[in-house]
Amino acid sequence: MVSTQIPKLDCGLQYLPASPDLAPNQILLPLTAAVNAQDGLDIGGCEVTTLVQQYGSPLYILDETTLRAACRHYRDAFIQYYPGPSQVLYASKAWSCLAVCAIAASEGLGFDVVSGGELVTAIRALEELGRPHPGPLIYFHGNNKAKSELELALAQGCTVVVDNWLELTTLADLAAQQGTVAPILLRFTPGIDCHTHEYIRTGHLDNKFGFDPNQLDPVFSFVSQQPQLNCLGLHAHNGSQIFELQPHRDLAATLIEWLGKAAHYGLSLGQLNIGGGLGIRYVASDDPPAIADWVKAVAQAVVAACQSQNLPLPKLLAEPGRSLIGSACVTAYTIGSRKSVPEIRTYLAVDGGMSDNPRPITYQAAYQAVVANRLSAPMAETVTIAGKHCESGDILIKDARLPHTEPGDILVVLGTGAYNYSMSSNYNRLTRPAAIAVREGEANLILERETYEDLLRQDRLPERLLAQP
Ligand code: LLP
Repeated sequence: MVSTQIPKLDCGLQYLPASPDLAPNQILLPLTAAVNAQDGLDIGGCEVTTLVQQYGSPLYILDETTLRAACRHYRDAFIQYYPGPSQVLYASKAWSCLAVCAIAASEGLGFDVVSGGELVTAIRALEELGRPHPGPLIYFHGNNKAKSELELALAQGCTVVVDNWLELTTLADLAAQQGTVAPILLRFTPGIDCHTHEYIRTGHLDNKFGFDPNQLDPVFSFVSQQPQLNCLGLHAHNGSQIFELQPHRDLAATLIEWLGKAAHYGLSLGQLNIGGGLGIRYVASDDPPAIADWVKAVAQAVVAACQSQNLPLPKLLAEPGRSLIGSACVTAYTIGSRKSVPEIRTYLAVDGGMSDNPRPITYQAAYQAVVANRLSAPMAETVTIAGKHCESGDILIKDARLPHTEPGDILVVLGTGAYNYSMSSNYNRLTRPAAIAVREGEANLILERETYEDLLRQDRLPERLLAQP
């Protein structure tokens, strides 16, 4: 199949051809996207329409090349801009499954996990890759970890990112009972405001995560007296889908100041985890900084703050999610019914919606789409892409510019790698789509499509409900 680079089409939608100047978080289409001889979209050397015929619709299509490139951008930028040791962790909440975790791990990344489920997924992926004691690569987050989750993390040798007093005391007790020492980071709320959706801001003081900074002294004092806790360092996270660099510089400086404070309690903290949060381009008008620029800003801020406080450089950890995987995946849907409300709006419905991508209804998130089998057809209309759920708000894209389409055409929504599968549901008892990874003309299933049997598997029907009332 002869493929060429996607041209910049004169059709309203600005395609961004993969350019060496753009980082993986700045592209709309995955890096390997190309237009084939049938005017169709190829990703990873595979024809999207053929993939849909083979694997069904809707379908998450993960471009392995883009995901690996993003991992390398982070890794290489830390090596280039940070003179001390560093480790990139994949925030697996963005998309936790064995294949994605295996790809991230094979690129040298560790993991940020926030539940027992994410923890076992990361561990299994690492074990499958032949890493028998993967614990030290895993950082366990969460504002209300269950005791059983803490036990699991301890048993695996993961670092627990402690969020609050209850967790601190529970963990100290558990470690004492098990006769071990728990490696921990302490999470603090940095008190930094960022411009992003209210639900995904976490740096400002009024939020549920982490110790309030007014707790620094009592927490440091407590931890310094706990032989069962080995405090390795500090953590904070500003929020998500952030395009500004300054909040991340501020965060780095604040955390270094707190490292200095910890030293007064005899705690020599060698790790600093500055969270994630770098945004991606969902629509052409988004303009996030490149991964390397984000890393450079953070690294320079840490180095400068350490110099001014006369502190040694800590091991610098970052835990990006969205900017690693967001642009690497698209969702292919089949176009179905159409409803035109004269002079108001035309709705074009697809065979998925808020169950496979809850971000538009939850955060009013904007997306862009192309028609995979009519790639260079001229734009003919403005339509609203509706999902198939029994809910008026189930709209994937408002006012999308599309060419003329027919039922059965394949609509490809871009940038669906982060927080789509991981936030998917069975609302209306829809089955979750399959996901495939594509690379160099090969496609492999990474998540089976759910079946009706899968939906019914957890159901129980007590005998007494079958008896006549
Ligand atoms: N570290 C911590 C402690 C976090 O809470 C998060 C995201 C990350 C790292 C990764 O952030 P990222 O690099 O992906 O921005 N469901 C929302 C996003 C929630 C983010 C939760 N925490 C969405 O779909 O936009």
